Amino acid sequence: MKIFIDTGDIEEIKKAYSFGILDGVTTNPSLIKAAVNDKSSGTGISLSEYIIEILNVAKGTPVSLEVIGSTYQEMVSEARKIYKVFNKVAGNVYVKIPVNPSMDEKGSNSFDGIKAIKTLSDEGIPINCTLVFTPEQAMLAAKAGASFVSPFAGRVDDHIRKSNDVDFKKTDYFPAYGLALESDKPEEEAVILEDNGIVSGIDLVGQCVEIFRNYGLKAEVLASSMRNARQVREAALAGADIATLPFKVILELLKHQKTAEGMKRFTEDVVEEYSDIIRK
Ligand code: E4P
Repeated sequence: MKIFIDTGDIEEIKKAYSFGILDGVTTNPSLIKAAVNDKSSGTGISLSEYIIEILNVAKGTPVSLEVIGSTYQEMVSEARKIYKVFNKVAGNVYVKIPVNPSMDEKGSNSFDGIKAIKTLSDEGIPINCTLVFTPEQAMLAAKAGASFVSPFAGRVDDHIRKSNDVDFKKTDYFPAYGLALESDKPEEEAVILEDNGIVSGIDLVGQCVEIFRNYGLKAEVLASSMRNARQVREAALAGADIATLPFKVILELLKHQKTAEGMKRFTEDVVEEYSDIIRK
């Protein structure tokens, strides 16, 4: 599985690339806002120069930059501008387009995202379709030509917990097979919480993978909104092509108490003669 970093923070991006295991970067307007707020303490460079730096650090791997509009015209024009201005830097820009930019129930512009994906993909602009919460949305995005389709796994888990009044911290593990709502009455069976047939964020990722495989759809499934290392493991087991992770979750991937304990013991047990052979 490819690993992207989900951040707008250049220092995190640099550090993560230095590990040698990174395959790309994703940003969104909220992550850019956080980076701008941090940056205002004084890098002395413009946002445009800052983005250029990110593109150069990530050279050879995709960097997703998101549009901000919610109509077909706005998104197409912003995507063309993003691509024109920034893709010449390192040739690695992917434009993020929301699957459905409608913000109300009427949904008058609900197909504008899909239409924009189709137009831009036909022009050769690689698209990362974002804010995907159902396998149906994923299927339409893939049919429209998106290169990456991003199911928001963590936000599905948050949504299921919130709508069922389950207390949680954002980084809490949510099992791929779902959360059972235990009943007080022993004769009643536990009910698995769900969102329209989706029992977890990883279930959503797995369903997207299955549908793409059933029909040979070329888009890659990019597991997004990831909260912890165990969820990353489950995304890999579900067949996600890519997972995009906050820096903290990347660091978490290597942690195990017994690894640290083993390291300590091996270090204590080093005999001088062995040390001389390999160090001198
Ligand atoms: C995806 O590309 C998004 O930027 C991101 O994964 C959203 O994560 P969040 O739900 O933690 O904000």
